[in-house]
Amino acid sequence: MYSKRIQTLCSLLFPVQTFADVGCDHGYCTEYMLKNALCAHATVTDVSADCLKKAELLLADFMTSGVCSSLCTDGLQGVSENTDLVLIAGMGGIEIVNILRQGFIPKHFVLQPMRDSDKVRKYLLESAAYIQRDFTFFDGKYYDVITGCSQSERGLNEKRQQYTPCELQFGRENIRERREDFLGFLQEEINKKQNILARPLNDTTHREMQEKLRYLQGVFSGEIE
Ligand SMILES: C[S@@+](CC[C@H](N)C(=O)[O-])C[C@H]1O[C@@H](n2cnc3c(N)ncnc32)[C@H](O)[C@@H]1O
Repeated sequence: MYSKRIQTLCSLLFPVQTFADVGCDHGYCTEYMLKNALCAHATVTDVSADCLKKAELLLADFMTSGVCSSLCTDGLQGVSENTDLVLIAGMGGIEIVNILRQGFIPKHFVLQPMRDSDKVRKYLLESAAYIQRDFTFFDGKYYDVITGCSQSERGLNEKRQQYTPCELQFGRENIRERREDFLGFLQEEINKKQNILARPLNDTTHREMQEKLRYLQGVFSGEIE
């Protein structure tokens, strides 16, 4: 039984010819793709040979039959730009941006940054990629996931998406839909700021913390979008 995080990632994957799981570690999402015949070929990659071994063991039968191959590599190096769908999950947002910058914007992508999701959104929008899904979910802690496609997949003449600063920070879908998990995340952030404000602070820190709290409260109430 996969964790809720892995199940959420799997729910965002769809049938394609070719799939790549970059930074696969255990390889569960690729197992899901192959077991459900959602791709004709999958590539699992990891920068760490030890981590890649876990996926190779899990997917041994698929590798033997030739529908799965493994690659010990940094980011997208050696991964075909023609890959239909690329998953990059469980890494920092800065690492994900570096991987995309040094590689390419995949035709279709599912990205799950552990932090700095705003930097991933910013880079995608700067690259004229299209962000399709962009939401927070809870599985013991709060995670962000961002899906979409490259500019060429969407259509070169399509208008670029314009995000507000708040959408860039939290994700457009969160701001527009205001679902329970996102509001839970905001409430947790509000509680953290209130706990800090209850301690003795110098004037500057107190003022900054109050500003951050007011901003979060504005997003929570829907006044700031
Ligand atoms: C926390 S695990 C996440 C595994 C899986 N993707 C998931 O979401 O559960 C992060 C994995 O990314 C790999 N990794 C980190 N930086 C990488 C890079 N630049 N290129 C490829 N793999 C990388 C690590 O070795 C590790 O196996």
